[in-house]
Amino acid sequence: MAENIVWHDASVSKGERQARNKHKSCVLWFTGLSGSGKSTLANALDRKLFNEGLSTYVLDGDNVRHGLNNDLGFTDEDRQENIRRIGEVAKLFVDAGSIVSTAFISPFQSDRDTVRSLLGDEEFVEIYVECELEECERRDVKGLYKKARNGEIPHFTGISSPYEAPEGPELVVNTGVLSVEEAVEAIVVYLRQKQLID
Ligand code: ADX
Repeated sequence: MAENIVWHDASVSKGERQARNKHKSCVLWFTGLSGSGKSTLANALDRKLFNEGLSTYVLDGDNVRHGLNNDLGFTDEDRQENIRRIGEVAKLFVDAGSIVSTAFISPFQSDRDTVRSLLGDEEFVEIYVECELEECERRDVKGLYKKARNGEIPHFTGISSPYEAPEGPELVVNTGVLSVEEAVEAIVVYLRQKQLID
C-alpha cells in the first residue's frame, strides 16, 4: 500500500527535541472499561506534568471519535482501526518530544501490543485503570450502561462486547480503591523511577 512512497528523514531528531524539552517522550496508554476513570486520570496527570513545564498532550477516545475517527463505530474491526490510528498519532507525539496520555478503552490485548511494537522500549507505558464492572455501572457517568442494559447500544464493552485486561501492564491503578490524587501520584512515582521525568 505504501508503494511509490519514500521516507524522508527529519532535519530535527526526536533526541534533539527531547534535549530541548529536558525530558524523555513516551506514551502513557490508559486502558480500562468505560467509566473506569481513564480520562479523569489522564487529564489530572496531564495538568500536573504541564504545570511542571513538561511538553504533554492528551488523546481521549470520546474526543478523537468526534474528529479524526468519526467514521468509526464499535465493532471489533472499528475498534482495531481506532486503536491503530491512535497508536500512529501517539507515535508522532513521541517523535515530537511530548509525553502523550491516551484514554481509550482499547479492549483488545493484540491491538495494544501492536501499538507497543510501534514504539521503543520504555516509550510505551501501559496503565491498566482497573475498576469492577459493577462499580463502573454504578457510576454510569454518561448513562450509557443503562442504555446498554436496555439493549439500546450494541457492542457495549463489558456488557455485550469483551474487555481483555492487560496481561503485562507497566502499571495498575485501581480507581475503586485509590483517589484520583493517589493514582496520579503512583504514576508520577513510576515515571520518576524510570527516569522519564525528573
Ligand atoms: S475503543 O474500544 O475503541 O477503545 P473508545 O475509547 O474510542 O473505545 O471510545 C469509548 C467511548 O465511546 C466510551 O467511553 C463511551 O462514552 C462511548 N461509547 C459509545 N458506544 C460505545 C460502545 N458500544 N462500547 C463502548 N463505549 C461506547
